[in-house]
Order: sequence, then structure tokens, then C-alpha cells
Amino acid sequence: MQKYHNIVILTGAGISAESGLATFRSSNGLWNNHPVDKVATIEAFEQNPAYVHDFYNELKPEVFKARPNAAHIALAKLQKKYPSPVSIITQNVDTLHEKAGSTHVLHIHGQIDQAVCLNCGKIISATSDIDTETICPFCQTMGMMKPNIVFFGENLLCMDEVDILLQHCDLFISIGTSGVVFPAASFVQTAKSVGAQTYEFNLEPTSNNFYFDHHIMGQAGITVPEFVEKLLAQEEN
Ligand code: OAD
Repeated sequence: MQKYHNIVILTGAGISAESGLATFRSSNGLWNNHPVDKVATIEAFEQNPAYVHDFYNELKPEVFKARPNAAHIALAKLQKKYPSPVSIITQNVDTLHEKAGSTHVLHIHGQIDQAVCLNCGKIISATSDIDTETICPFCQTMGMMKPNIVFFGENLLCMDEVDILLQHCDLFISIGTSGVVFPAASFVQTAKSVGAQTYEFNLEPTSNNFYFDHHIMGQAGITVPEFVEKLLAQEEN
């Protein structure tokens, strides 16, 4: 294993599975038990915001009680100890990376603990329920708060920063994502096009596994800490 100058890590629901949070597309996943077109599209929110609010309000207690697992903790350690920048881009709306000690995590799909006002654009903390009667504390408008979660049909967050990171990375690691939701699924191609080594950590090969140089199969809570220790040991030699 070589030494790297810019490490970029993309995480998906699989990294939080061992913390007890359901993934989206597994047999017991969120999208198999809930109609995705009714809870995760901007059209659904426009047509029936109360239904969408209920869905995320019910999800919140489960997400907030989850604790980071060994994979989140290992990535936080890598960020602290590796001498070059280690950037985390996550599709997850939980904040388990931050709870593990990671800083500056790019939440491209938003965060469940926040809401955004569609009238003034301000983001507020939303650890308790929000609904169609919530009043924006900034512009005082009622009924315009939306979970700060990127729905299908909306633009991803932080993409300018993501593009710069991908253009300069020499190691790209994808952990626990099925690679079917774009544009995150195409980040590996961008990383490869600039010459990065590419690693995929998953339980199984994914639909875009063709773009990865290395496949590490198994539970992220085991494989990721092992890999992090190898990277840190290499750096010490
Ligand atoms: P998926 O549910 O599509 O994929 C989860 C992946 O994690 C699968 O490939 C599993 O094989 C893998 N996996 C499960 N447990 C694992 C473990 N213990 N260790 C390693 N891998 C494991 O979730 P995402 O790819 O994250 O968007 O889904 C992408 C987006 O689709 C989500 O961010 C969400 C959804 O629509 C929003 O909600 C905005």
C-alpha cells in the first residue's frame, strides 16, 4: 500500500447498518417497507407534506439513539492520525460520523436533524418533530419547513466542494453503498479518471463494481478498522 496525499471516502447506509439503522434496498430496507415515491420525492412533499413529515418524524428517534460503530470510529481515527487530508462524503442523513469524532463531513443528501425553510432558505436544527404548522424562526412563515433531506428531483448539497475533492484525490474509498443513486454512484469514475486507486467495501459486489480496483467484502465494522490500521502502519514505516 502506497502513501496517499488526498484520501476521499464516500459512505452509504451500509456503514450504519451495524449501528442498527436499516439500509434502503435490502430485503428489510426502508424502501421495501415504504413507498419511495410517497416519502422521498419533491413531488410527494409538495402534494402531501404532512405524510412526508410523519415519515421522517417517526424515523428520528431511531436515528438519534443509534451509536457509531467500529467503522465510523476507525474513519474518525484515520482523519485524526493520517498526515494527509482525509475527507468524508456521506449519503447518510444520520450523523454517526460526527458522533464518532469526524469533522467536516459533507452530507450530500442532507441531515435528518435539520430542516430548511422553503421561504427564506435558512437551515434550522430539527431534533424534534416538524410539521405543516412549524413556524420558521427566521422569517416567521408557517408551513414552509421541509426536512433538510435531498429528495429525488432535488440537487445534491456541497457539490462544489465534492468536485474539488474528487479532482485531487489519489485514494477513493466507497463504503456500504449500493451505487445505484447518482450522482454519488459516479464519484468513483471521476476519481479513477484522475488516477486514484479505488476501493469498495461492501457485503457483496455492487452494480458499479467494475470501476473499483479493489473489493473488500465483509461487514464494514470489521473490514474498515483493519484497512485503517494498514494505512496508518504504512504511514509509520
Ligand atoms: P442502499 O440501501 O442502496 O445500499 C446499502 C449497501 O450497503 C448495500 O450495497 C449493502 O450490500 C451494503 N451493506 C449493508 N450492510 C453492510 C455492512 N455491514 N457492511 C458493509 N456493507 C453493507 O443504501 P445507499 O447506497 O446508501 O437517499 O443508498 C443511497 C441513497 O438512496 C440514500 O442516501 C437514500 C436512498 O434514496 C436519500 O434518502 C436522500
